[in-house]
Amino acid sequence: EDLDLGGYPHYMAKEIQEQPECVERIIRGRLDDRFGVARLDGLNLTPRELRGFARVKILGCGSAYYVGQIGATMIEELARIPADAEAASEFRYRNPIIEADTLYIAVSQSGETIDTAFAVEEIKRKGGRVVGLVNVVGSTIARACEGGVYLHAGPEIAVASTKALTNMAVGFALIALALGRVRDLSNADGQRIIDAIRALPGQIKSILDFEPEIAEHAKTVAAAKSLFFVGRVRGYPVAREGAQKFKEISYRHAEAYQTSELKHGPLALIDESLPTVAVVPSDELTERNLAAVQQIKARGGAVLAVTHENVDFGELDVPRIVVPKTEPELDPILLTIPLQLLAYHAALTLGYDIDKPRNLAKSVTVE
Ligand code: AGP
Repeated sequence: EDLDLGGYPHYMAKEIQEQPECVERIIRGRLDDRFGVARLDGLNLTPRELRGFARVKILGCGSAYYVGQIGATMIEELARIPADAEAASEFRYRNPIIEADTLYIAVSQSGETIDTAFAVEEIKRKGGRVVGLVNVVGSTIARACEGGVYLHAGPEIAVASTKALTNMAVGFALIALALGRVRDLSNADGQRIIDAIRALPGQIKSILDFEPEIAEHAKTVAAAKSLFFVGRVRGYPVAREGAQKFKEISYRHAEAYQTSELKHGPLALIDESLPTVAVVPSDELTERNLAAVQQIKARGGAVLAVTHENVDFGELDVPRIVVPKTEPELDPILLTIPLQLLAYHAALTLGYDIDKPRNLAKSVTVE
């Protein structure tokens, strides 16, 4: 088994490094420059059917659910269809209303997560249309869905998912393009997104080049017993996923909040002992995010920002991890990558079993 590590100390490290080529694989043959659209024949949906959906509901568990939230925002932004994500583990227990004009998307790396598989069955039983965004070819969920998009991330061994999640986010960008281009999204905007998607592998490589710096930041955050991860709108699921990764392998209490919610309660906890990882992209919310960073700093809290080059922190003394800018709709894909490395190096510093964290299984096949 060790041979497969290809010289890396852990599968998680290897899988993080594989991401540029994984993204190349999911987009290969799927981008159509003539019409600024993504070709997703596997969905088994005609343009007419794609146009007919009034809503999109995404279902997944754990990190797949958080990436589903990233996907829902992309779909709302690019296709202007109301979209949301829900934890598949809760779905069937609330007698969900299944609508014929909703496109249901089940998202799963393994394709064997029982909660997600049961959600698919519930949708089908009640007559809904469900497609999959799945990594493992021929898996239970892939077979149960009426069509789908394979992630082509390759086998993922580490319990803490990385490359599959990145490909899920890119997969959602492709689905958002396909849905958008049969509605309001212009050819030019479609092409803008296609060009940005093509640039992702190179941009991911450039983030991975900063691993030594991120490892230094990890040493600092690993010293805290508890930390917050915050972000807004596009940045919120990034924060959720960042906290999740941190919890899974570094066994530190990490809690994600919408930055805007801090002042409604959690701000009371901020002091010198509780650092915050803040997602501060360069977008329409930058000023508001910076104001929240200022509030945290004013209460003695340390902040580590995941941000873009042109964000001006002014007088604020804030260490930064800078990621390359893509189109705003795709920012979450790149903002997530350094948080994988942050969790990895925190766990390394703390000396934990990175690939097989305690109490967790790679794929949860029992309820
Ligand atoms: C991710 O790091 C976790 N190990 C976990 O949350 C995982 O994403 C979840 O269990 C869903 O797994 P799946 O993608 O195989 O369905």
